[in-house]
Amino acid sequence: MKRLTHSMLAVATGLFLAGSAMAFSGSYVPGAGINGTVHDLGTPGANGMNYGASPADPLQRICIYCHAPHNTYRLSSATGGAGPQAPSEFDYLPLWNHTLQDPTGYTMYDNGPGAPQSGAKASQAIINGMTPGSTSLLCLSCHDGTIAVNSYGNADQISESTGSTTITDAYAIGKDQYLGNHHPIGFNYDDVQAGDTEIRSADTAMLTPTSFVRDHLAGDAHMECATCHSVHNKGNDGERLLWRSDQNSELCLTCHDKGIYTAP
Ligand code: HEC
Ligand code: HEC
Ligand code: HEC
Ligand code: HEC
Repeated sequence: MKRLTHSMLAVATGLFLAGSAMAFSGSYVPGAGINGTVHDLGTPGANGMNYGASPADPLQRICIYCHAPHNTYRLSSATGGAGPQAPSEFDYLPLWNHTLQDPTGYTMYDNGPGAPQSGAKASQAIINGMTPGSTSLLCLSCHDGTIAVNSYGNADQISESTGSTTITDAYAIGKDQYLGNHHPIGFNYDDVQAGDTEIRSADTAMLTPTSFVRDHLAGDAHMECATCHSVHNKGNDGERLLWRSDQNSELCLTCHDKGIYTAP
């Protein structure tokens, strides 16, 4: 029995090592820029990640996985030009170069039928409705696991990668387009704050020493992935690309009036 347990452990450990071989194994300083972070994909094998371009990029570029200088995705409203045209759900395309997925069909945050159905305390995002905004859809184009991380560019450019490696499970967010058990995104923060008495005002709660929650809302005051995360590891103080550290849950207490808020 003891021997069996040991061999089972060995198998389990082996599987664990094999399964995590592709995940990020490095470390980086919050706010110090994108180099050497989880989003520095240009050097195959660096920091345990292997999302190398196909064919290999001799320049080992970082930005190209997400941005290119020419003929990137066009807005759906474009009437001329070259490069692929994005679906109308994408209303923000900063020279976007990473293959986009189908933006429809996401199941948004849902706390279940047993949740309080009235009262001005919570569930306001659900009552108001949620749709993932363009900036979140850009994250999801890698993170929901449907599109390969190393698939970028298009036939109207000179650099294109046709890789097929999707994101490691531990970093997948919204697998099978299910965002039901992820922190709500894609809603108007002000509308929710007006109905939820325990959400702080976007104009008074500071997320970094120099910016308010307001500065991290997208478009029409929408809360998105980038409200909590700094994709380039720039301007943030927190671990895991967070705008502020979640030490003592300070990130959560910035917006949620459930304890003592300390400005960063
Ligand atoms: C993993 C994807 C990713 C990589 C790699 C990346 N970016 Fe971005 N970038 C984004 C996303 C997503 C946005 C829009 C959302 C946001 O700014 O939070 C953006 C926005 C931008 C913007 C416009 C808004 C701003 O923040 O100024 C600039 C400029 C930019 N990126 C430059 C760069 C440069 C230069 C590099 C390479 C050194 C780079 N990015 C690498 C994902 C990426
Ligand atoms: C080009 C693909 C791509 C895009 C676009 C992208 N990411 Fe990532 N992201 C990755 C990869 C790859 C990893 C690391 C996965 C691994 O280790 O295997 C990662 C890791 C992360 C992590 C983990 C940080 C840590 O230290 O553990 C966070 C947080 C994150 N991404 C947030 C975002 C957000 C927010 C956006 C959009 C604003 C975004 N990402 C857009 C590819 C991408
Ligand atoms: C309310 C703030 C908040 C929002 C909004 C948010 N995240 Fe996160 N995210 C976090 C925190 C906090 C962690 C760290 C979790 C931990 O360390 O256990 C994290 C961790 C991650 C990780 C690391 C893997 C993991 O499961 O912990 C990834 C990847 C990530 N977020 C991507 C995203 C994407 C993509 C979106 C939008 C769909 C998003 N985040 C929206 C707060 C947020
Ligand atoms: C940038 C502001 C912000 C940050 C940071 C933030 N939240 Fe939220 N959170 C919100 C808003 C706004 C809602 C929607 C409230 C509503 O629907 O009434 C919400 C919803 C929630 C809900 C769902 C409530 C329900 O009714 O089901 C929980 C639980 C939650 N957040 C926990 C957290 C935790 C834990 C953290 C830290 C890891 C965190 N939040 C960080 C703004 C934030």
